[in-house]
Amino acid sequence: MTKFRRIGVLTSGGDAPGMNAAVRAVTRAALARGVEVMGIYNGYDGLMYDDMKLFHMRDVSNIISRGGTVLYSARAVEFKTEEGMAKAIAVCKKNQIDGIVAIGGDGTFRGATDLSIRGIPCIGIPGTIDNDISSTDYTIGFDTAMNTVLELIDKLRDTCESHARCNVVEVMGRAAGDIALQTGLATGAIAIAVREIPFDEEDALERMIKARKNGKRNFIVIVAEGKENFAEGFAKRIEEKTGIETRFTRFGHVQRGGCPTLKDRATASLMGKFAVDELLAGKSNLVVCERNGSIVSMDIGFALTVDKLFKGNLSEEQIAKIPPEEFAKMKAICDERAARKMLIYETAKEIGN
Ligand code: F6P
Repeated sequence: MTKFRRIGVLTSGGDAPGMNAAVRAVTRAALARGVEVMGIYNGYDGLMYDDMKLFHMRDVSNIISRGGTVLYSARAVEFKTEEGMAKAIAVCKKNQIDGIVAIGGDGTFRGATDLSIRGIPCIGIPGTIDNDISSTDYTIGFDTAMNTVLELIDKLRDTCESHARCNVVEVMGRAAGDIALQTGLATGAIAIAVREIPFDEEDALERMIKARKNGKRNFIVIVAEGKENFAEGFAKRIEEKTGIETRFTRFGHVQRGGCPTLKDRATASLMGKFAVDELLAGKSNLVVCERNGSIVSMDIGFALTVDKLFKGNLSEEQIAKIPPEEFAKMKAICDERAARKMLIYETAKEIGN
């Protein structure tokens, strides 16, 4: 088994509040076990171009409450090539990096797998506001982003009430509707439109007309960005078909910033420490996941396949090649996830009037 003298930590892909708490946890947990930590800047770019610094205890002081990532982030295209990979491995050797904890989304995990199979053990930690990594119930940054959305919608609600208007709000999440669903439920939105659940536009319009007749002045509709080219047009149709004056708002990158919430700091801290434990125990090519309230780890290959299955990105042929027992496990994870989304959608619809 590798005797770990030094590990690297990096953040990659879109930044997310709580990534710093994870970097801190990885650093402190490793140092506590007598293992040195190299902070790698700009994700896999820093690994290819030797942009890194040996971290001491104090290098991660006072970052638990900071948004963004002190290690910066990048979506490294060159890293996906054989040349890029060779550069990264040479830099690991030169800097005596025996293993890496990579914090990010599915692109980050694919990079971690590529390194793992080339002899650099890696553990991934899910960090993205989107909560779109199907193997884990939770990704670091999700809670903070949702609370940002919540605060902004509460403000919109005030002005909608004053002017008897509707506001159609587009929130982030890439192809996933998790932010939209949860914030829609928590703000009492009259309708939520996401890519993964069919949206009955006529029903939403009828409910709005009825609610207006019953005296409702303000309306919030939440649309996930994954439902492409929908929100702005829907705002126009609401105004035309219901007579309710309607505005469109896209929150954009403001959803990615800000101090992490307790949930994000705590989860990041637990996952960071867990990742170090796994790495130092000789494990590799794993992603740390939160499943039913516990922190566990899962093979990255398995996790990425679950993700493809959930998102409908596997062909019949690819599905047929998965051993039946493994497929049953994957299917159970996907079904649970889909059911959770549907429960939120249905509940929000029923009580959002
Ligand atoms: O993955 C996080 C995320 O903010 C998504 O919600 C959004 O679709 C995307 O990143 C935006 O990417 P960029 O910051 O590259 O514009």
